[in-house]
Amino acid sequence: MGKVASLAALAASLVLVAGQTYQRLGACPSLGCVLPPDQSDFLPGQYFDLRVEVHAPVNGSEAYNNGKPDENFSVTITKKGGKTKGIAEFFHIKEPKLEKWDFSWYEDLFAEDAGTPSVVNVAAKAYRRLAIYEPGTYTVELSYYGGKKTRAEWVVRPLATKKRAKNVILFIGDGMTTNMITAARLIGHKSINGKYQSLLQLDKFPVLGHQMTHSLDSYITDSANSASALYSGHKSTVNAMGVYADSSPDPFDDPKVETIVEILRRVWDSAWGAVSTAQIADATPIALTGHSRSRYQYGALVDQALNSVTNYTWTNQKGPDVWFGGGAEQFYPGKDSYKGEDYYAKFAAAGYDISLNKTSLLELGNSSKALGIFCRSHLPVWLDRNVYKDNLADFTNDPRGAQGGKQGPALDLPGLKEMTLKAVDILHKRGGDKGFFLMSEGASIDKQMHSLDYDRALGDLLELDDTVRATIAHLKAIGELENTLVIVTADHGHGFDVFGGVDTKYLSAQSTNRAKRRAVGVYQNSGISQYTTPAEGVSYNTGAHFPVNWDPRYTLAQGFGASPDHRENFRVHKDGPRVPATEIDGFDEDDLFANPEDNVDGFVVNGTLSTDESQGVHSLTDVPVFAMGPCQDSFGGVYGNIDIFYKIANCLGLGRPNAKPGILPGHGHGKY
Ligand SMILES: *[C@@H]1O[C@H](CO)[C@@H](O)[C@H](O)[C@H]1NC(C)=O
Ligand SMILES: *[C@@H]1O[C@H](CO)[C@@H](O)[C@H](O)[C@H]1NC(C)=O
Ligand SMILES: *[C@@H]1O[C@H](CO)[C@@H](O)[C@H](O)[C@H]1NC(C)=O
Ligand SMILES: *[C@@H]1O[C@H](CO)[C@@H](O)[C@H](O)[C@H]1NC(C)=O
Ligand SMILES: *[C@@H]1O[C@H](CO)[C@@H](O)[C@H](O)[C@H]1NC(C)=O
Ligand SMILES: *[C@@H]1O[C@H](CO)[C@@H](O)[C@H](O)[C@H]1NC(C)=O
Repeated sequence: MGKVASLAALAASLVLVAGQTYQRLGACPSLGCVLPPDQSDFLPGQYFDLRVEVHAPVNGSEAYNNGKPDENFSVTITKKGGKTKGIAEFFHIKEPKLEKWDFSWYEDLFAEDAGTPSVVNVAAKAYRRLAIYEPGTYTVELSYYGGKKTRAEWVVRPLATKKRAKNVILFIGDGMTTNMITAARLIGHKSINGKYQSLLQLDKFPVLGHQMTHSLDSYITDSANSASALYSGHKSTVNAMGVYADSSPDPFDDPKVETIVEILRRVWDSAWGAVSTAQIADATPIALTGHSRSRYQYGALVDQALNSVTNYTWTNQKGPDVWFGGGAEQFYPGKDSYKGEDYYAKFAAAGYDISLNKTSLLELGNSSKALGIFCRSHLPVWLDRNVYKDNLADFTNDPRGAQGGKQGPALDLPGLKEMTLKAVDILHKRGGDKGFFLMSEGASIDKQMHSLDYDRALGDLLELDDTVRATIAHLKAIGELENTLVIVTADHGHGFDVFGGVDTKYLSAQSTNRAKRRAVGVYQNSGISQYTTPAEGVSYNTGAHFPVNWDPRYTLAQGFGASPDHRENFRVHKDGPRVPATEIDGFDEDDLFANPEDNVDGFVVNGTLSTDESQGVHSLTDVPVFAMGPCQDSFGGVYGNIDIFYKIANCLGLGRPNAKPGILPGHGHGKY
């Protein structure tokens, strides 16, 4: 055997069988899995579960031990410089019972095409409700198959118990990138000779940072596990929140991690709330309380929020103080609510004031817990609520469900600003000296970017900016501005940017795809923004900081790094949200093409995504973090998404040095 050949053979024998398109289990490239996995960080005293699994692949490239998993595995933990102990001994708990299941997965697209999944038998244990109080480095070691070892190094971050901010408001522009902020500024703010005459509120923040959004086991994230990273300091897998995804079939038994609001309630008994323009059970708002590997368990996740599923809290307070958004289908009794039950009634029974429209939202008092659900699904976007209002009548989204057998439209709708300002008043009152945490999400920046509806996405970005501006002014008015850490960030991006201007009149007048493209002006031919010049005879009356003309002749040439086939004319969609790609006659229903009814006078842009994708997808870009208030300086620089959790937790003094709360007299803690 020649030297080159033997080196190649050696290299081949060292190759780890790590799935790429598909994975046997994320963060578990070997046959032994420790979750939380290697490189996990923890807040001192943060509750979590530990799941260990031993895999025995029955067939496929990893087949091992005739498909019989080792049931006699052991797990130890060693603090750096300390003594090695069994997990149960270290945490003073009983050894949990052994669990067994099997699952199957495709090793790659060839296996999927051939219909040959690999089957894996599993032996596992879950050690639940653990906490490590002493900062430092810990090594957890799983030993199995008589000598195989999987090691996980964990870091318990330095302890900070002093509360430096009374309140925290975390704004999340879902999917919002710097490119989108730049485009929103261009259409919402007038400039003369390249100099802006007014700025976004975001432009005025004193501190700017960058966060990296990667998932635990994929570099492109979704909104569930990215929200979870922001709220818990633990990365996870796409579609999972508040847990590390294990391989069991049950979407609710995965090892949990405690979230910022669960810790805040437990440690300081503060008030907290969530506001979103999405359905309230959507990933970003629900990940504050949700613990599941499947973000699609909407009804169950609403039940988890109401009843605090982890039961980490020993105060009597369960559930959010304020919860405003859409998603009525999880509340009125029916197929989308948990066990078909009436969650309006359940929230009312738990002491919540319920409001189902803007009028009653504005009439809410400040003292009671409040649930405001204003429509089915996501709220119609700012552009439809404020400019093309006739479109609202086309929605079938009455928050009460079907009335007399028919579901009509929700017409009395609040925006993000009304919901957020009311939430601040209620949280301020209910939190009192203990302060509050509020998450407020501009959700449809992401949702409308998905459907390439740039105008609707940018309208909602400007609504978020307007909400931040109004919130800061309101905090000042109620004397809380100095006490409040205000953060504006995103959970991930999309590959969106503006690359020029478009003469839409010229584009429409040309008859071929190739001729139409000449209407796109780049460099010196991009011109200046026409969105800030009033159109004759048109008054939108939507106030400063928004375009005065949404339908100018010269629009933005804008596009997407990842798209389905679509047709582009670069004009606003006045008749309602855009549908860029559809099925067409004569082809399979998952074989999609440019929607023949969308932008009929435009030119075709062939997609870069699998032809079964109907929308654009998330992208790799880092996203910005704007901060002001106590601890603002800690948000400068470049860091991972989980660091946002640690920065907020440290500013709130949420770390605990021992198992005793020591803050709430008369409340025992018990053993973990
Ligand atoms: C299980 O492992 C322990 C050591 O970790 C060993 O003493 C024991 O004999 C093993 N039991 C079986 C059934 O293999
Ligand atoms: C593994 O076994 C299952 C069940 O017998 C079978 O359906 C599957 O095709 C097999 N997979 C491979 C990769 O051989
Ligand atoms: C929550 O925990 C407390 C004390 O640990 C216990 O008394 C109570 O029954 C638990 N509630 C639920 C719903 O599990
Ligand atoms: C708004 O809700 C209140 C009660 O929650 C109801 O009385 C009122 O009719 C509703 N208004 C509209 C316009 O639906
Ligand atoms: C709620 O709080 C705000 C701000 O402090 C105050 O202006 C408003 O009057 C309060 N509303 C009620 C009903 O007390
Ligand atoms: C480009 O898109 C058009 C319209 O959807 C479609 O007819 C054509 O087949 C596409 N071309 C390729 C190479 O996919």
